[in-house]
Amino acid sequence: MDRIIIYGGEKLQGEVFISGAKNAALPIMLSSLLTEGWNTFHNVPDLMDIKTTQKLLRSLGVEIEGVSPMRINARGLNNCEASYELVKTMRASILVLGPLVARMGMARVSLPGGCAIGARPVNLHIKALEDLGAKVSLKDGYVEAKAKRLKGKTIYFDIPTVTGTENIMMAAALAKGTTQLKNTAKEPEIVNLAEVLTAMGAKIQGAGTDTIVIEGVDRLNPVEADVIPDRIEAGTYMIAAGMTGGNILIKGANPYHLESLITKLRDTGMEISITSEGIRVIGNKTINSVDIKTLPYPGFPTDLQAQMMAFMTIGRGLSVITETVFENRFMHAGELMRMGADIRIQGNSAVVRGVPTLKGAQVMATDLRASASLILAGLAAEGKTELSRVYHIDRGYQEIEKKLSALGADIKRAPAK
Ligand code: EPZ
Repeated sequence: MDRIIIYGGEKLQGEVFISGAKNAALPIMLSSLLTEGWNTFHNVPDLMDIKTTQKLLRSLGVEIEGVSPMRINARGLNNCEASYELVKTMRASILVLGPLVARMGMARVSLPGGCAIGARPVNLHIKALEDLGAKVSLKDGYVEAKAKRLKGKTIYFDIPTVTGTENIMMAAALAKGTTQLKNTAKEPEIVNLAEVLTAMGAKIQGAGTDTIVIEGVDRLNPVEADVIPDRIEAGTYMIAAGMTGGNILIKGANPYHLESLITKLRDTGMEISITSEGIRVIGNKTINSVDIKTLPYPGFPTDLQAQMMAFMTIGRGLSVITETVFENRFMHAGELMRMGADIRIQGNSAVVRGVPTLKGAQVMATDLRASASLILAGLAAEGKTELSRVYHIDRGYQEIEKKLSALGADIKRAPAK
């Protein structure tokens, strides 16, 4: 397993280009299961999770060429089972459930199981599929779903679930009749998926709001479409500028997807301006401590909580960070404390008292966004930081050490000792 080695203290300067959004590309790739013929998707990021999704699609008989642009043809779809081997490495594989039942009338998908940040149940996906008329049973750790043809219905999600909304939007697109989804998630990645499905011929209204209406059609056709930029990658680099007192231009991001973060970063004293070339982000000598509460979009994203915690460890004062989306998303706190951070966990809140500086240390990545927060901490810390289990970061950040060293960071990847 590779390591990442950072010598901290360099101010980040220059410009960084943001890749396509992992959490938009995954459902969009899987939406090709609903069509027969060649789809072409642009701005797909080159990440481990994308490779895993390609492997999953190929195991179902789907043809795939390239990464970006990526061409996908599901005409030869001949298998409706997503195996545990594949699903256990990427929970988002549950997104094959809706499309397979809609296109083939059946699906057998391994339950994804939990991960470091929480139990991650999929009960809301399953209940909504049953609401659409599927017969669903759980056997040997697999979800088995069958339906001659799904029937439209009004469905209420107890919790706004991102992949739950995406799974059922794809299933309902080929159902008979109209489906109303209520209390849906409103993330930009859902809007991107709805745009692609609409281009395929689906009839969808309301994506991006808490009510989505889908009028089922008999057939969807292959399309050419773009993946939106990754707001979480962009936010991570913006925080990196704040932590190193740097001055960088974020190119290719959509600032409208980052409003909650931009507001918070301005409260810390950073200067952020939206220009025609991109988002100009300038760190401030003194960092004001701010409170953070993660919420479904458009609230502060849980996927930037770990990165903000790293930032607040060197704030001037006290910051209370409350995680309301996942039950165990403070794994990075212990590793930050090994770098000298002063953090006290109280239930789903972390109280972070700023310290003058962090000290480099050997730290271990536990999940994707935790590893990003430890890299940020290493950039700001005095001395050497060595991050192990780097495979976590490769799931969601394209060439992070190349992009950071192009900004002046002293960072490199090394093979495991
Ligand atoms: C998506 O996960 C993202 N993944 C996550 O990004 C992100 O953190 C999360 O949304 C929240 O924004 C992808 O899009 C591939 P949820 P998802 O269903 O859909 C509970 C990253 O780092 N819930 O919106 O799995 C759940 O436990 C990843 O890129 C149920 O109880 O998240 C959580 O508490 C991490 N039952 C809450 O809802 C269900 O059936 C929100 O989860 C489904 C969800």
